[in-house]
Formats: sequence, C-alpha cells, structure tokens
Amino acid sequence: MGIVLGIESSCDETAAALVTTDRRIVAQRIASQDAEHAPFGGVVPEIAARAHADRLAPMVEAVMREGGLELHELDAIAATAGPGLIGGVMVGLVTAKALAMAGEVPLIAVNHLEGHALSPRLADPSLAFPYALLLVSGGHCQILRVEGLGRYRRLATTIDDALGEAFDKTAKILGLGFPGGPAVERLAREGDPRAVPLPRPLVGSGEPHFSFAGLKSAVLRARESGRYRDADIAASFQQAALDCVVDRLALALDAMEPVPALVVAGGVAANRAIRGALEELAEGRGLRFVAPPPALCTDNAAMIAWAGCERIGQSDPLDIAARPRWPL
Ligand code: KG4
Ligand code: ZN
Repeated sequence: MGIVLGIESSCDETAAALVTTDRRIVAQRIASQDAEHAPFGGVVPEIAARAHADRLAPMVEAVMREGGLELHELDAIAATAGPGLIGGVMVGLVTAKALAMAGEVPLIAVNHLEGHALSPRLADPSLAFPYALLLVSGGHCQILRVEGLGRYRRLATTIDDALGEAFDKTAKILGLGFPGGPAVERLAREGDPRAVPLPRPLVGSGEPHFSFAGLKSAVLRARESGRYRDADIAASFQQAALDCVVDRLALALDAMEPVPALVVAGGVAANRAIRGALEELAEGRGLRFVAPPPALCTDNAAMIAWAGCERIGQSDPLDIAARPRWPL
C-alpha cells in the first residue's frame, strides 16, 4: 500500500489531501476563495495566487499532522501542474517541489483534467478502463473515451463556453452571485423548465461538439424582456443545457467504440438534474452510470493525490514547468 500527498491550486480552491493506493482519503483540507472573488463576479488570478500562497503551507502541515506522517514516509507528492491560472498553479507546484526535495520523495506533476477524469475510480473501485467520460467544469467541456492511464481519446469539446461557465454567466445575468452553478440549480427547482423558449445550440448537428454562447445570449434577452420569472429562466436554462448535453453525448456514444460505463466528472457533475438525465441516458443504453460524490466533482486535492496513486512509481524532474494550457 502506498500513500500520496496531493496539492491543488489551479483555480480558486486551495487544497491538500493524503490518499492511499487502496482508495482511503486519510486527511484533507480545502479552502474556497469564493468570498475574495465574489465582489468581482469571477476569479481574479492575482488574488487567487496570493490566497494560495498564504494558505497552502499550513494546509499541508495540517494533513500531514492528521495523517501522522513525516515527509519521507510518503510514496509521492502529486501536484496540479496545469492547466489553470498560472500564478496559482506555480504556487502549488513550487510547494510540491520543495516538499519533494526536503523529503527525498518523487514528484508527480498531474494534469488537472486527468485528476477529474480519474476521480470516479477513487470513488468506485470497480470502475475499470475503458469508460466514456463527460468532463464538465468551469473551464472545460469535453467528451472523452478513457482507455487507460494517460490514454484519453477526445471526441468532443466546446467551440465557445464551457458548461460551468454558462451556468456562471446565467447566474450573473440573474444576479445570483458567484459561483453560479449551485445557485442556478437551487433557483431552477422553483421554476418551470418549459416557461422560456431557449435555443439548444448544435443539437442535431453531426459532430458531438458543444456550444453555449448562444444560449447565454438568449438567457440575457429573456431577462431583459421582463416577461419571465427568474426561477423560470433558471429552470429553462438548465433544461436547455441538459438537452444539449444528452443529445451531444448520445451522438458521441454512437461514434465511439463501445464501453461498459458512462461516467461524469468535473464541477458541473455536482448538478442533480444533469446527473439524473445522464443516469437515464446510461440506463437506456444498458451502460453502468458512475458519478463521484459532489465533493469529489468540484476541484479538490484528493483527486490529484489519487492521480498520483495511479501513477505511483513514476516521477517528474524538479525543473518541470507549470503549464497554463495542457490538453489531455
Ligand atoms: O471543476 P470545478 O470545481 O473547477 C474547474 O476546474 O473549473 O468546476 C467549477 C464549475 C463552476 O462553473 C460551477 O459553477 C460549476 O462547476 N458547478 C455547478 C454546480 N456546482 C458547481 N454547475 C451546475 N450545477 C451545480 N450544482
Ligand atoms: Zn476542475
């Protein structure tokens, strides 16, 4: 059995976790920066980097103390090395490098998207490769065929906004504050999903890609018309987004070599309505449906530590660079 320290700092969550190769989350700490960024309606990179720099070291100290471990007892230190806001990624990666050096422990530079992509395997020991993955977060919206560790075949991506971004922008239009996804979901429960006619961009098109910019503009027009209740706009938006996801995913599943399971990961996977629709889609096709618990869907360090567990035995050089862009 091995144990890995994971560090996450690519966006606005500062997090550290200890995870074992037999899938036990021994200790974890997470601090959201929502309060710092809320006045600006979105994540401010400079503020994020400073907050990571202030909080990360004490968090690492706390999980190590809770786990009762010294640095040299770790099997690896895994940190997000991209993609993400570069200042924040650098804080996490440099911290991991220093700890790796001090403890003489291997460093594993983790692709944040791989962290999301493998997180369902931390939650569900029986989930084997290959699987179809819908990866939906604030910055990414992709359909992948996960064929093995490091083997990700991308079938679809977004041509403009990511799904989480569309939720965040809708929240902003409705004055729901930041971050928007959970607030839109809450308000949508009180609304009628058929009340507002909204477009389903790219639905029915022959490639399984996504587009959400037109949907966002339609939400803005609906709000400005003054004809609809906010709850109805939220519910109709969520329904339109969900219809797009189901249509695009169905097309991608038809196009890929068959898989036994459909998996959803990333922050938007915390959305219950979307989870429900995906579960139905999977059931209709005789696929197993796997969704990690919501706390493992949004950014966290346990998924980064787990990606390190999957890669145990490997190591990256101490001069490895942080990458703002890093496609899977
Ligand atoms: O994976 P994540 O924590 O960070 C990124 O890597 O982007 O995803 C954050 C995104 C945000 O856009 C947030 O609004 C969205 O996930 N999100 C949700 C929900 N919870 C988080 N979107 C819809 N419904 C939710 N319940
Ligand atoms: Zn993420």
